Amino acid sequence: MNIKKQYQILEFGDLGDERGQLVVVEGEKDIPFEIQRVFYIYGSDSQVIRGQHANRKSEFVLINVSGTSKVRVDNGFEEDIIELNRPRMGLYLPTMLWKDMYDFSEDSVLLVLTNTHYDGSEYIRDYEEYLREVGGTRKP
Ligand code: TYD
Repeated sequence: MNIKKQYQILEFGDLGDERGQLVVVEGEKDIPFEIQRVFYIYGSDSQVIRGQHANRKSEFVLINVSGTSKVRVDNGFEEDIIELNRPRMGLYLPTMLWKDMYDFSEDSVLLVLTNTHYDGSEYIRDYEEYLREVGGTRKP
């Protein structure tokens, strides 16, 4: 499966004016799911790797509302790296894609929207188990 067809780069509209910028994201409109949970990650320095999991039920949209970070996605066959570097840019990730977030800038605030309430049991945190589930051929 072509990994570039699995994720989606979203570009949000800007309702800003001379008073400043305003970006609005609405569930099931700008975001391809109903939003059930919002969390944000900040204070992670450039050495830290977060994520390192896949989700059976959760889809995500990631937005660096401040600063920058990188996301490595892996579908068990190939990987790709996406840089989040604009507050109007969103990265949509479907279920069952392995992901790492890293290279956080000092001012990085990474906003994450998802379609689920938190359930630790839907996370796959072991890469070998992930490969087994997707029939992937990459080396662990
Ligand atoms: P973790 O999944 O490791 O964060 P990340 O994928 O961003 O690196 O989560 C860290 C801890 O926080 C872990 O104990 C689970 C908990 N957690 C929740 O309770 N609710 C949530 O919505 C999230 C994302 C994490």
